[in-house]
Amino acid sequence: MPSHDIDAVRQQLLKRVEASETPRDVLRAPEFKDLYSAIGTLSPEEKGPYGKAVNELKQAVEAAVEARTMQLESGDVIALDVTAPWDVNSSRPAFLPTNEGSQHPLTKEMDTVVNIFTRMGFDAVESRQIDDDFHMFGSLNFPENHPARDGYDTFRTEEGFIPPAHTSTMQNRILQEGKAKLEAGGQIAAISYGRVFRNEDVDATHEHTFHQVEGVFVSKDATLGDMLGTLRSFFEVYYGQSLRIKTQPAYFPFVEPGLEFQIEKPAALNGKPGEWLEMLGCGMIHPNVLTAAGIDPTVYRGFAWGGGIERLVMLKYGIEDLRHFESAKLNFMRKFA
Ligand code: DAH
Repeated sequence: MPSHDIDAVRQQLLKRVEASETPRDVLRAPEFKDLYSAIGTLSPEEKGPYGKAVNELKQAVEAAVEARTMQLESGDVIALDVTAPWDVNSSRPAFLPTNEGSQHPLTKEMDTVVNIFTRMGFDAVESRQIDDDFHMFGSLNFPENHPARDGYDTFRTEEGFIPPAHTSTMQNRILQEGKAKLEAGGQIAAISYGRVFRNEDVDATHEHTFHQVEGVFVSKDATLGDMLGTLRSFFEVYYGQSLRIKTQPAYFPFVEPGLEFQIEKPAALNGKPGEWLEMLGCGMIHPNVLTAAGIDPTVYRGFAWGGGIERLVMLKYGIEDLRHFESAKLNFMRKFA
C-alpha cells in the first residue's frame, strides 16, 4: 500500500476516534487488518518502511483513543453532578426557549394577591416550608393532645419538624416582630404567604401541597367590622367587581369568635344568586395567641384570616381540577401565558 494511502487511513481513523463515544472500538477497525495483510504483497525492501509507517499510525491512533477516553470520562463527572437541575445526559432540550416560557399561574396570582395587600398597607413575608410544633400548634392555642390538632393532617419528620399545614405558623413571628411597633403607638399589619402541606388523599379538590395567605392585624381598637371591610375590599379588587359577603360561625382555636368568610359567586363567573362560596377562615385573635407573643391582650386586639390561593384562582379562571396546578402540563400553563 503506497504511503499516501497510509496517511489517508490515518486521517480517517483519527477523525473517527474524535467523533466516537466508544473510541476503543476504533482499535478494532477493519482498516488495521487491511494494512497488515498488505505486508504480504510487498517486496522485502518495501516491508521495512511500510511496517514502520503502520506502527506509527497505530501509535497515533492509540494516543488519540487515550485522549478521547479521558475527555469522555471527565464529561462523565459533569453527568453525575447531582446538583444539576436537569438531566445532563439527556439530548432533549432541558428548558423551553425563554420566549416560550411563562410564569406559573399560581406565582402570577400570588403576586397579585401580595400586591393588593401591600397597597392596602400590609407588610408581606413568605412563610416557612419547615417549622415546629410550637408555631404549628402551641403558639396558636391548640392545647397538647387537643383533637383540633388532628384536623390538620400534618406531616412530621422523624426529628419532629413539621412542614406547615397552614400559614398560621407565621402568626407568632409576625406578632413578636411587630410588638415594638405597637408599643411605639403603631399597629401590626402583615400578611404571610406560601406553600403548605397536608397528608391528604389527592383528588380534584384536595392536594398534599397547596398555597395559603394569612393576614394579621393588631392595634388598640381593631374590630370585627374592620376585618370584614378589609376582606371585602381584597376580594372586590381581586375579582374586579363588587361582591356580596356573609359569614358563619366556625371553630379555630386561635380566634374568638371564629368565622368562615363567604362571597356570593359573581354572575360574571357563572354564579347564580344565592350561590355562596366559602373563601377563608378568620376571626378576632384569641387572647392566648397574643399572650404567647408577649402582647398584652387587655391593651391590644386584632384579627387574623387565612385561606387557600388555589381556590381563589380556580374561581377566577373556572379551573375545575386542583391537580392541574402541580401537573406541569404545558397545555394548562399556556392558558395563563
Ligand atoms: N389556618 C386555618 C386553616 O388552614 C385558616 C384560618 C382560620 C386562618 C382562621 C386564620 C384564622 O388566621 O383566623 O384551616
